[in-house]
Amino acid sequence: GLRKKEVNVLCLGLDNSGKTTIINQLKPPNNSNHLGPLSSEWKHVSQTQAQDIVPTIGFNIEKFKTSSLSFTVFDMSGQGKYRNLWEHYYKDSHAIIFVVDSVDKLRMVVVKEELDTLLQHEDIRDKKIPVLFFANKMDLQDAMSSNKVTQMLCLDSIQDKPWHICASNAIKGDGLQEGLDWLQGQIS
Ligand code: GTP
Ligand code: MG
Repeated sequence: GLRKKEVNVLCLGLDNSGKTTIINQLKPPNNSNHLGPLSSEWKHVSQTQAQDIVPTIGFNIEKFKTSSLSFTVFDMSGQGKYRNLWEHYYKDSHAIIFVVDSVDKLRMVVVKEELDTLLQHEDIRDKKIPVLFFANKMDLQDAMSSNKVTQMLCLDSIQDKPWHICASNAIKGDGLQEGLDWLQGQIS
């Protein structure tokens, strides 16, 4: 059959925002490719694994396929000491997933700093790369709405790149499909 288009996705955001939990939901178990992302058959498996997720050291590479695309996801560590690794992958990326912990109000200024640094980087600045934001942890009581997150990060000032924000609950998988659908529409 036809070769699927290969897409490199960079998953960024502060530590503890939920990047690995999200990617774990997107990929099938054991990397089997016959079921689509978020298929109910293996969603259960991912959920039972959610509690086993540990902070990422450096980064992990995950691969999964949808009907039209073949994704390679770089799941970066969000810890301060590893954030300098992010920029090495900007050049070869076709899309960015930026995950925000919607409960962590104290660190929203840090999120904004990291986002601004990303958007101003020479390998990103002039690129019309789609950026998908997840306002994650929407299940928690003190979570800010996606509108509030949009406002705090001044996302409306991003003019030169397509971007989209979805509220998500990575543990249950809520909101992830909507985000992935948008991203696929931007790429294919
Ligand atoms: P680093 O690898 O350190 O950069 O963190 P990360 O962004 O990969 O976060 P990770 O996926 O490891 O999740 C951090 C913690 O948040 C874990 O205990 C997850 O179970 C929890 N978590 C992730 N998403 C959600 C969510 O939507 N709701 C709730 N309640 N907890 C979540
Ligand atoms: Mg992680």
